[in-house]
Order: sequence, then C-alpha cells, then structure tokens
Amino acid sequence: MVRLGVNVDHVATVRQARLAQEPDPVAAAVLVELAGADGIVCHLREDRRHIQDRDLKLLKQVVKTHLNLEMAATDEMVKIATEVLPDMVTLVPEKRQELTTEGGLDVVSNADRLREVIKELHAYNIVVSLFVDPDIHQIKAASQVEADYVELHTGEYANAEDLNTQMEELQKLREMAAAASKLKLGVSAGHGLNYQNVRPVAEIPQVEELNIGHSIVARAVLVGMERAVREMLELIR
Ligand code: PXP
Repeated sequence: MVRLGVNVDHVATVRQARLAQEPDPVAAAVLVELAGADGIVCHLREDRRHIQDRDLKLLKQVVKTHLNLEMAATDEMVKIATEVLPDMVTLVPEKRQELTTEGGLDVVSNADRLREVIKELHAYNIVVSLFVDPDIHQIKAASQVEADYVELHTGEYANAEDLNTQMEELQKLREMAAAASKLKLGVSAGHGLNYQNVRPVAEIPQVEELNIGHSIVARAVLVGMERAVREMLELIR
C-alpha cells in the first residue's frame, strides 16, 4: 500500500502571513495522523518563510508516525538535522527567490558534497532521500552517493499543459521508478500532486510513498484537515 506523507508547510505559511501564533502546523500534524496518514513532512528553509525551528523541534516530539525533514545540504541544516534527529531527511535544492522547490537536485554535479552529507546523516541513523528529476543520470548518481531513497519530482507531470505531455511525463516517472528500484533505491514521489492527478502516480508499482502538501492544505481550509487527508488516502490506496 502506498504511504502518504503530508507536508504541513503551508499551514505555517498562513500563520507567517500575520506573524501570528495560529494556525499551528504542529496541531495540523496531529490531525493529519488522526486521519490515518503515514507521516509528516516539513521543509525548514534557509529564509524560514514558513516552518520555524520551533515547529521542527515540536514536530519531532509530537509526531508518532514518521517525520521527514526536507532541507538544503548546507552546514546549518545538517547541524539542525543531527540535533533534532528526524526519521528521514530529504535533500532538496533551494533558491531564495523561488515560490516553491523548482526542480530536482543536481546530484551529478554535487556528488562529492552530497556523499559527505549523506555519510554524516547516516552516522545519526537518519534515512536519506534525494529529491531528483526523473532522469537516469541523477538516479544513478543518487545510488553512487549512497542515498537510501529517491523522491521523484512530479512537477513536470503535474504542470503539463496538455494530455500528451502529461502522458510522456508519466511514462518517464514509471521508467525512472523502475530504474531506481533496480538500483536498490527506495522510491517516493511528490510535488504538485492533487486530487485530480494523483492516481496514475500512486499506481506506479515501485512508488512506496507520496509526499503531498499544497493540495491537501488547500482543501483542508475548506473541508477540514481530517476530511482532506481521508479523501487523499482513498484515492491513493
Ligand atoms: N516533495 C518535495 C521534495 C517538496 O519540496 C515539496 C514541496 O515542499 C513537496 C514534495 C510537496 O509539494 P506540494 O506542496 O506541491 O504537494
């Protein structure tokens, strides 16, 4: 059964819009778990635009399922991860001006640095995933730097402007999930997945986990977090 990790960043986005105390992403995480999701994901960005250090520390204490910290491979973030000890770290590229993560990591060009960071996180028993485009060179490089998982970037699939392009992107995801699995990498996927486009990705046999944020939080604003999570679980299972 495909696991669902719910990214609670945008609960914090609403809070930070007023620099207020609520809504609290930690409270949201409790509801997400009560609704049956398999894990909580958050991205501590260098600019702290949504999730704050306090959120991460409390999430570590409160989350009972699985905590996946998305972060850039910087010294500051590695230090935080080795102090907080999430179950998993997903390394992502980060640019200050971007609205959201714009693409996968360039593992090929940053192999030495990533190998070093992965080794350090492994020393603390943290499972490491690399967020990559569905590209065979990146996937082979992820295996070479000894990542445990790749998270396939589904943004091109989700944002495809016509059905043909979307089907081509889906085919790439299928082939790259199979390739990653052959290299003994665990496979997850995410970015831009929503209630309309999630099903074909959930049906890819090697995909173990989907990480979904914006669409679930957006629906939760209107129908409540528990219902939003349950409706997504029904679609992917
Ligand atoms: N996976 C990764 C690596 C991400 O950076 C994000 C966005 O924070 C997501 C999944 C979730 O994307 P979305 O919010 O579009 O569902």
